[in-house]
Amino acid sequence: MKKDRITTTNKAADTFKTDLLVYLAVEAGKKMPLCPDAVKSQVKKAFELKDFQGKASEQLSFYPPAKASAKRVMVLGLGDLKGEKDLPLALDALRESGGHLAKAAEKANAKEMVVVLPDAKHLSPGVPDLPSAAEAIAEGVILGDYRFTKYKEKTRKKTDYPGLSGVRFVCDGELNAVRAGVTRGKNAAFAACSARDMANEPGNGWTSADFATWAKILAKDTGLAYRCIEKKEMETLGMGGILAVNQGSAVPPRLVVLEYRPESATETILLVGKGLTFDSGGISIKPAASMEDMKYDMCGGAAVLSAMQAVAEEKPDVAVVAVVPATDNMSGSNAVHPGDIIRHYNGVTSEIINTDAEGRLILADALSWGIETYKPTCVVDAATLTGAVIIGLGHHYTGLISNNDALSEQVIEAGRMSGEPLWRLPLDKHFKKQIESKVADIKNTGGRPGGTITAGAYLSNFVDDTPWIHLDIAGTAWDFTEKAYIPKGPSGTATRTFINLIRHWKTGKVRPAKDAKN
Ligand code: BES
Ligand code: MN
Ligand code: ZN
Repeated sequence: MKKDRITTTNKAADTFKTDLLVYLAVEAGKKMPLCPDAVKSQVKKAFELKDFQGKASEQLSFYPPAKASAKRVMVLGLGDLKGEKDLPLALDALRESGGHLAKAAEKANAKEMVVVLPDAKHLSPGVPDLPSAAEAIAEGVILGDYRFTKYKEKTRKKTDYPGLSGVRFVCDGELNAVRAGVTRGKNAAFAACSARDMANEPGNGWTSADFATWAKILAKDTGLAYRCIEKKEMETLGMGGILAVNQGSAVPPRLVVLEYRPESATETILLVGKGLTFDSGGISIKPAASMEDMKYDMCGGAAVLSAMQAVAEEKPDVAVVAVVPATDNMSGSNAVHPGDIIRHYNGVTSEIINTDAEGRLILADALSWGIETYKPTCVVDAATLTGAVIIGLGHHYTGLISNNDALSEQVIEAGRMSGEPLWRLPLDKHFKKQIESKVADIKNTGGRPGGTITAGAYLSNFVDDTPWIHLDIAGTAWDFTEKAYIPKGPSGTATRTFINLIRHWKTGKVRPAKDAKN
C-alpha cells in the first residue's frame, strides 16, 4: 500500500466508490452495540437475533442496495473498550481491530476500503480521544496488511490477493486532529513494515552493504545525515569486536550511522541495533535445525534504522542517532577461534569462549564508539542476543536490562503504548562476576545460568554511566505473540517502541545514576 493512498475525510461515507465499506461498533453489554445511524437497523436486527454483539473481531456483512457506491458493507465489532483496564490495552485492542480489518479486506478480495471511524462519544471512557483511536486503527490496518512476496515469482498466481491499495478513513468531527492521528499511525506502521522487509530478506539478499545502501537512500530522501565506517577505518579505530566476528566472512563489515540532529535539540537519544545478517555460530557452529532463522539476527539493526524513517518524517525536538554494526558470523580458516583474545574499541580485552556469542562483541564496539562520538543523554540498544530470553519470557515479552530507573520507566511505557511489552531483568555484580576471565578483562559467555543477563552484563562494560537500556528481542523479533496485526515471520518489534519513546521524550528527566547500585 502506498502511503498517500491512506487518507482521512469528513465527507459522507456512502459517496465513495469502494470494494468494502466498514462501520465500527462498540459492544455495550446487554444493550445494542453502539454504531453509526447508517447501519443501526441492520445491527439492531442482528443483535435481536443474537447474531452480533459487537465483540472484538465479530463481523456482520451484507450487500447494499444495487445503486450504492460500495460493493460490500461490513460492521466490525471493537469489543467493550470500557472493559479494558488501561489506555495501552484499549489502544492495542483497537490496533488489533485494525488487523481484523486488513484480514476482512483480504477475505473479500477488497483493494479499496472505506472505514467509518466510531463516534467519539461511543469510545469514552475506554479511550479518551478519537485521534488516538484513529491512530491505533490505522496502525493496525497497515501492519495487518503487510505481506512479503518479493521472491514468490513462478508460484505467485494472478488471482493472489495483493493487499490493500487504498484506505479512506471517514470521521464526523475533529478532522484535523483525526488526520494527525492517522498520520502518526501511518508513520509508525510503515516504519515497522520497513523493518519487516529488511528482516524478510534472506542472508544472501541482505548483507552489511544493504544496510548501508538503505540508510544512504533514506538520508538522501529525507535530509538525515549518513555515515558509514568501513573495515579499514575500523582497523584504525580498533573496533576489535566487529572485526573478530567478521573474520570468517566473505563480506566486509560496516558500521552504519544515521543522524537526526536539529540545532534546537539539547538532548540526544542514541539507538544501537545488532545487524548480524546471518549467524551460523562461527567455529562454535550452531545445530542445523532452524539455522535458517538466523537470517533474522539483524532485527535489532532493522528496528533502529526503520525508526529513523519515522524520525525523519516527524522531526522531533530531541536529536536521535542510529548506529548499526553489520556483519555475518561465519566459520572458515580465518574465523575467530574459541580462546582468542580481542581488544574492543574502548580498550577492554575479551576472551572468546564461544564464537556464537557474537552479538555482544559487535555491540560493544558500537556502544562505546557511539557514546564517545555523540555524548548522548541515553543509549538504547536492541538485539536478538540470547536464546535464553525465550526460555525466560517466551515470545511475549522483550527482555530489558538497564543501569537507569528513570530511563527504564520511559522505555517500558513506550513499549506498553506500542503493544510491545518489556520486562526488566536484574543486573548486579553477581552476573558481572560470571563473565570474569582468567586471562583477559572479561570473557564473552558466563555459562547457561542467567544467559540473558550475563550478555547484558557484558554490554555494561561499554556504556560507563550513560543511562542505558538493552532490549533482548530474540523472543519477539519473530514468532511474536500471535495477533491480527502481527504476521508469521518477523514482527518489526522495537521500531514502534523507539518511535513512541522519541515522540514522548521528556527532556531533563534522565540523568546518569552515579549512585546506582549496579
Ligand atoms: N543470535 C543468537 C541468539 C538467538 C538464538 C536468537 C535463538 C534467536 C533465537 C546469538 O548470537 C547466540 O547465538 N547466542 C548464544 C549465546 C551463548 C553462546 C552464550 C545463545 O543464546 O545460545
Ligand atoms: Mn550467535
Ligand atoms: Zn547472533
